[in-house]
Amino acid sequence: MLPQAPSLRTLSLSFNKAEGLSILDQTQLPQKETWIQIQTPSQMIEAIQSLKVRGAPLIGLSTSLFFAHWAHLNDVSIDKLKYVYLQLRQARPTAVNLMNNLDFCWSQFELNQHNKEALLTAALNLFNEDIFLCEQMSLKGESLINPGDSLLTYCNTGSLATAGEGTALGVIKKAHKNNKNISVFACETRPLGQGARLTIWELKKNNIPHTLLCDNMAASLMAQNKISKIFVGADRITKNFDVANKVGTYSLALMAHYHKIPFYVVAPSTSFDSQLEKGEQIIIEQRPSSEILDFWKLSETSTFNPGFDITPHSLITAIITESQIIYPNS
Ligand code: MRU
Repeated sequence: MLPQAPSLRTLSLSFNKAEGLSILDQTQLPQKETWIQIQTPSQMIEAIQSLKVRGAPLIGLSTSLFFAHWAHLNDVSIDKLKYVYLQLRQARPTAVNLMNNLDFCWSQFELNQHNKEALLTAALNLFNEDIFLCEQMSLKGESLINPGDSLLTYCNTGSLATAGEGTALGVIKKAHKNNKNISVFACETRPLGQGARLTIWELKKNNIPHTLLCDNMAASLMAQNKISKIFVGADRITKNFDVANKVGTYSLALMAHYHKIPFYVVAPSTSFDSQLEKGEQIIIEQRPSSEILDFWKLSETSTFNPGFDITPHSLITAIITESQIIYPNS
């Protein structure tokens, strides 16, 4: 039996004892707000792989909640549970939060003599912790923003990607709330448009002044001195502070370096990989050709479509976590 579980509801996720996990289908945004109930491990994996649920923290948190609920409803052996945990863990390879969160839940389950309540408690704790982590990162990051700053961001790192206000976008929202009179440039983020579809949606909801640009226009903006600072998120950070994030982040960091624009990465400790030494060891997800070809109604053309790239720590001004601001080059 499922123990008492609180009802959780955020912009992108809902969880309660009766229905388990439902997610806002992010592939339909901003045109449609469709909620999907996730009932089976294969549905969960499909939702992750198709980016219905996405963003490093949210992938880990939603999968942990789903797994804890599924474990309570299904009277299966420990071996079968372990099999499902390992399958979920492999749904996407780059964002480490998925592995970190599921490993934490499983370790609590083992520590507590395979008591399924420990799974749910762990998943709920991670969820509540993420709201707190977002708040702490936003306070630290906001201290780096001056009144009137013009900020550039990439992909979507807000409430659609976390349990709280977000990582990089959380910092931006905090500066806006504190009346810093900021404006935001959001890159489209091809090929799936997380910036155009999702970040613009969140910026509108928060009444933050914003401008959308195609990814290949960022250098022109920088050359015209129109960007004060850049804030992005992370999917995995290695021990030497190299960062994997949405493909295109590396080129922004290179441009920022040339134009001497501060380049900040905002990420919670749950996005750090304590095993890998450096960025080149990170597995980069390769995405289907259709994501590029369908847009142009093309077929039978070879594509290059990595989901992420690696920004070396030498290009990063600082990494803002919930507990500290790390300057990787000093
Ligand atoms: O493929 P996505 O949309 O899951 O990629 C998301 C990103 O790269 C984000 O920048 C990252 O996960 C940080 S979200 C707080």
